[in-house]
Amino acid sequence: MLGTMRTDPARNWAMVDLLAETGWTDQVYVAGAGKALEEGGLVDMEEKKSRLVSLGPEGTKAAVEGLLEFRLWEWISNQDDSGRSMESLLSAGFDRKEAGPGVGLLKGLGISIEAGAFVVDDEDAVSRAIDQRSSFIQSLAEGATESSSLDGALVEHFTSRGGLIEFEDTVSRTWSLTKEGASVDDSELAEVDLIGELTTEILQAEAWRGAEFKPFDVSAPTPTSLGGRTHPMQALIERIRSVFLEMGFSEIEGDYVQSAGWNMDALYIPQSHPARTMQDTFYLSEPERVEVESEYLDLWAKVHEHGHDTGSRGWGGTFDKDEAQRALLRTHTTVNTVRYIAGNPNVPSRVFGIGRVFRQESIDRTHLPEFHQIEGIIHEPDASLPMLISTLKTFYAKMGYPDVRIRPAYFPYTEPSVEVDIRWREEWMELGGSGIFRPEVTEPLGTEWPVCAWGMGLERLAMLILDLDDIRQLYLPDLERLRKMPLL
Ligand code: PHE
Repeated sequence: MLGTMRTDPARNWAMVDLLAETGWTDQVYVAGAGKALEEGGLVDMEEKKSRLVSLGPEGTKAAVEGLLEFRLWEWISNQDDSGRSMESLLSAGFDRKEAGPGVGLLKGLGISIEAGAFVVDDEDAVSRAIDQRSSFIQSLAEGATESSSLDGALVEHFTSRGGLIEFEDTVSRTWSLTKEGASVDDSELAEVDLIGELTTEILQAEAWRGAEFKPFDVSAPTPTSLGGRTHPMQALIERIRSVFLEMGFSEIEGDYVQSAGWNMDALYIPQSHPARTMQDTFYLSEPERVEVESEYLDLWAKVHEHGHDTGSRGWGGTFDKDEAQRALLRTHTTVNTVRYIAGNPNVPSRVFGIGRVFRQESIDRTHLPEFHQIEGIIHEPDASLPMLISTLKTFYAKMGYPDVRIRPAYFPYTEPSVEVDIRWREEWMELGGSGIFRPEVTEPLGTEWPVCAWGMGLERLAMLILDLDDIRQLYLPDLERLRKMPLL
């Protein structure tokens, strides 16, 4: 390419000229060689953007039949005063599909309608404007035209009307020699074949032997690829999952729809607890009831009424078995771990689950009616509070938050109960609750071993990790923002 350009050093070379003179058949060669020469400071490349305007399907039609305003104006001009009405327009063969937009166009040209009749102030001005438009369309009918050489106001006018004109943007490049390019000594120029890509043919023919390879430029700019990515929430869930798995836990799942019994009574939450009201819990009408095995209903009734043989005095009152079978959307994932123990009372276990829960909350910066919890238990003969605390500390340290604070707390189903905070930007952030299940919970489930249990907020953690100040940002379909969130 350099050799070719040096045959006429002052020329501005277009793509077609370079293809013709070099004998190359593909523009890619010119673009590639031009780029390399440009990087070497031997040629300059100039890019000229241009915009071609041509007729669209409606424009082609208008070039033959005349623009709608032209045809309307022709008709109006041929009517006497009494005939210039909407009514006779419709009977003259203009259908409603044309009449509507047509009247709009006429108004734009200074023609008004008064009491159903067309009123024209300046007939000459209307004719002139329509002539201009018609000849614009006629000129385009002869061939596509560079936008810059057309009347800007007319281009704008026709752009706003559907299908009349179309645009095609093109970029044309020209190459010219720089001083250095022009002064290269001919003896320094040699034509060399560079292998840019190893193909099967090259390998089979062993053509690579002794050949030169094109250096691979890892710093060359490339377009940013906007491929798919995992949603940040899903990515966080995967990461939490792998942390618990590597700590030796197994994953469990459960249904969104549960009975109040398993969601609450099994956890020794008194049936009169305020959180059980409709203001806090979503009860369902379909299904309205979820049946619970009578074995558990009987046990919970005894425990709630007088403590059964748990050593507790119970809450007193009468346990309502119907209430225990009301269907609801689970309000915490503790229902999953409790049911897991009931199903495996004699097997030491360490399980976790990450799942969606539902509460009647008003939506604001830090609250959503649907959110996720990271739930888990250690159920084994020697489970203990220190074991619980070190497990949670290890988990958060692995997530990147080594400063964990444990505070005493209260839950109806744990004793002792603790709340877990992590240190973030000089502040303590509350992330969840935990504790050792009370005997009122574990005995009806069929175990006498202690159970370390916890339920942590996932969205809170996500807000810290993704540096968000509004929880709703996690779930808005704002692709731009989601794309920019850090990869986890
Ligand atoms: N279920 C509690 C909540 O939703 C958290 C918790 C789980 C507390 C297990 C103690 C034990 O906030």
